[in-house]
Amino acid sequence: MTVTPAARPEVVTVGDADELGRRAADIVSEFVEAEPRGVLGVATGSSPEPLWAELVRRRRDGLRTDGLTLVALDEYVGLPAGHPESYRTFVRDRVAAPLGVDDDRVVVPDGTSADLLAATRAAEVHERRIADLGGVGLQIVGIGANGHLGFNEPGSPFRSLSRVVELADRTRLDNARYFGGDPRAVPSRAITQGLSTIMSARHVLLVVRGRTKAVALDAALHGPVTESLPASLLQWHPRVTIIADREALGAS
Ligand code: GLP
Repeated sequence: MTVTPAARPEVVTVGDADELGRRAADIVSEFVEAEPRGVLGVATGSSPEPLWAELVRRRRDGLRTDGLTLVALDEYVGLPAGHPESYRTFVRDRVAAPLGVDDDRVVVPDGTSADLLAATRAAEVHERRIADLGGVGLQIVGIGANGHLGFNEPGSPFRSLSRVVELADRTRLDNARYFGGDPRAVPSRAITQGLSTIMSARHVLLVVRGRTKAVALDAALHGPVTESLPASLLQWHPRVTIIADREALGAS
């Protein structure tokens, strides 16, 4: 069977982090102006950081971001409330507060219990909350060096919804920098929006920085659409914008 991609993702090449921030902020600004009370999907990680910085600047210049609802892509399982590396902390302190979004419009899966049943329920609640909000309007995502989206590791089913996942060794290694350099200190489980959840967003904005992502990004853009490289699924999304620096696009 041959499947024709819905539309080729639009790829914007940028020279540096500031330009990445500006180009990504152009897309978010357009979204906020069209939908001041829209639902913005938020990724953590270092790649979108220039975007948050630029949005804060634009807010100072009058962009109204305070009506947005922010929905997190993922969260670790088993980090206590207020842990500095929990994604709830990140989204609240680094994105919501600077953009003027009240806490009651910040939707992050509750990963505070290490109990598998509790985490599974929290993932189901996350999926339901997204549905109750009418879905995500604009979803920002990064890509893992192994091609993961959110915490959907290679092998994740395309039809997956928000759920508890085991993190790949590669991911724990990559994220060890946030946990004192020790991969064993990185939680082994996380709650993530599923691939199907991500694909339901009306517009997906993928931001990518650095050489370590080049192989995965090239495969996601030009390789077969396969569950062994979750980001390749974006080829089937009707509206994807990719903003990447030259290093990340090095292998394309
Ligand atoms: C983390 C996050 C992802 C993020 C990715 C890339 O594991 N769960 O949502 O997109 O890794 O992170 P970075 O941008 O820091 O490379």
